[in-house]
Amino acid sequence: MVLDLRERIAHRLKTLVASPMPRGDKAAVTLAIASSKGGVGKTTTAVSLAVGLARRGLKTLLVDLDPQAHVAASLQSDVAPGQPALADVLTGKLREVLEAARRSRFANLDLAGSEKILAETETILAAKIGKELILDGALAATRSHYDAVVIDCPPNLGTLTLNALCAADFLLVPTDMSVLALEGVGDILAAVDTVRSRLGRHLEILGILATRVDRRATQVNGAIEQSFADLYGDRLMATRVPASSAVNKAHLAGKPIFEFARHSPAAIAYDALTDEVAGRLGLAVMTVPAAATATANGARLAP
Ligand SMILES: Nc1ncnc2c1ncn2[C@@H]1O[C@H](COP(=O)(O)OP(=O)(O)OP(=O)(O)O)[C@@H](O)[C@H]1O
Ligand SMILES: [Mg+2]
Repeated sequence: MVLDLRERIAHRLKTLVASPMPRGDKAAVTLAIASSKGGVGKTTTAVSLAVGLARRGLKTLLVDLDPQAHVAASLQSDVAPGQPALADVLTGKLREVLEAARRSRFANLDLAGSEKILAETETILAAKIGKELILDGALAATRSHYDAVVIDCPPNLGTLTLNALCAADFLLVPTDMSVLALEGVGDILAAVDTVRSRLGRHLEILGILATRVDRRATQVNGAIEQSFADLYGDRLMATRVPASSAVNKAHLAGKPIFEFARHSPAAIAYDALTDEVAGRLGLAVMTVPAAATATANGARLAP
């Protein structure tokens, strides 16, 4: 007991006197990928965008705030036991997200989070004052080491998602073409209003992204897309991600879509989305050989 108390005091003192994290020379733009609805393509979009930005030469940090830890599965990159974790950052044991970041096997791409323990962390955070602002504070120095920070959120509007909304400069809302998804978009946009008005954050909506668009169900999709367009107008991203069986197979293989099926319709769409997002964010990117170029050259599109 005494030892435990001593250890805790020593740790507290260490945190208080710890020299501040060295600053880098960058100023990352932070993008949250969120929706209150499950299964709409948040993780697929976050992973594809983060890999896409990294491929374009931008130093990118992908933060997985979802206790389901699907980012790690999508990229075959679990947090090793004993490694510093995002949960340690959110509960105050570590100061900066950078301390919990790990290299991915892709150039320019680091990962933080993807821990099932985040579910318990959410409960611990519930009692903390200013609990919605912890991630933002823990990105203060981290942002100076990256060009872009992409945050994948859980499918609810709990404390973890609110942390992402408070830390982000921009929000991208993926949605599938279902009537229920319309509700999900409405819910997250209402949460954005609250975050702005009650917490004084300057979160901007980058756009609403249509995902899993099934080109065979043209009549139904057309009607739903029309409703989206009527409601959200120019907030809809120009890129639409088609339903593509390659996405599921890529998840199972633990590979990003660009690596698993570079010429698939989903890879082409996510390539276009990366360029659209980089353009809207004003990020200067290197050009990469686009999947679409290969198509134009006659490569066969994978299903
Ligand atoms: N464009 C697509 N075409 C076909 N399947 C897709 C597409 N995008 C995502 N999927 C599949 O849909 C499922 C959900 O995708 P994803 O995990 O990206 O959604 P999510 O919003 O992150 O889900 P959750 O709310 O559970 O976190 C996965 O099995 C994925 O493979
Ligand atoms: Mg997900």
